[in-house]
Amino acid sequence: MKQEAEFSGLQNDILELKKKRNAVILAHLYQRPEVQDIADFTGDSLGLSEEAAKTDAEVIVFCGVHFMAETAAILSPQKTVLLPEVNAGCPMADMITADQLRAKKKECPDAVVVCYVNSSADVKAESDICCTSANAVKVVRSAPANKRILFVPDKNLGHYVGQQAGREVIYWEGFCNTHDRLSAEQLRKAKQTYPEALVMVHPECRPEVIALADRVFSTSGMIKFAKESDHKEFILGTEAGILHKIRKTAPGKKFHMASDELICPNMKATTLEKVKLSLEELQPRIMVPDEIRDKALGAVKRMIAVK
Ligand code: 13P
Ligand code: SF4
Repeated sequence: MKQEAEFSGLQNDILELKKKRNAVILAHLYQRPEVQDIADFTGDSLGLSEEAAKTDAEVIVFCGVHFMAETAAILSPQKTVLLPEVNAGCPMADMITADQLRAKKKECPDAVVVCYVNSSADVKAESDICCTSANAVKVVRSAPANKRILFVPDKNLGHYVGQQAGREVIYWEGFCNTHDRLSAEQLRKAKQTYPEALVMVHPECRPEVIALADRVFSTSGMIKFAKESDHKEFILGTEAGILHKIRKTAPGKKFHMASDELICPNMKATTLEKVKLSLEELQPRIMVPDEIRDKALGAVKRMIAVK
């Protein structure tokens, strides 16, 4: 985190309130830079859920989207989980309901249901195990070898993990509006413009985009690789919010977005003003009903146990 003197008045107000409320601020790497800067922890979906599970704070301020705060509430029901912008949803998570999943399960009763963490608590409750983009291949490999996988809701991630794990995957037709927007044509153009750059893309991208990439990583995976590798220049196929942390973590290296359209409006809906208000009012609070939570927790815990 920055030093106190480098923060704006609003940021300092938030940090004061945070102490008063015994709160921790968790921010996804796609959040606005000024929001990431006041966070105690920034990370990808997996890292944030791990932090939410282990924090001692009484209040978790989740700067991300609805399913992330819900996952924190599933893991830590005794804590107050706040989502500063309650309308920050994930369109992909909304592409499947629990009723739809129940109907699909009837069509393939033998399959192991793996649900991407970008899903509602109700959908998690209907699933055998969760995954994030960082552990999806390992999670799918952990399923009994003789079983097919029903993967929801991201068809692109489902396709990628099926290929990597060498498993038969039945996928749902969901997708991330932001990552799925990147076309092979746009990526080819970026490669022509920056011929020296290594291409890293997120597995939420389309299969034909993934086929053109040098590496496929979750958001945190890209940051780690950029820091540790000898490569000096990268093209990134993920949400533009990553630039803030990746440039700080790997200074002196060059990063180019594969397209300038890779912005998730939901991830940008959280502002400092909203974070402050949520700490003042301890609202909007995200809670999950006990009967859903118990079942969803099983799927999340089984994911965390996969090493
Ligand atoms: P990760 O956080 O797993 O990289 O996923 C990206 C994403 O789209 C989150 O909404
Ligand atoms: Fe959902 Fe995609 Fe936005 Fe992530 S980047 S919150 S998956 S729409």
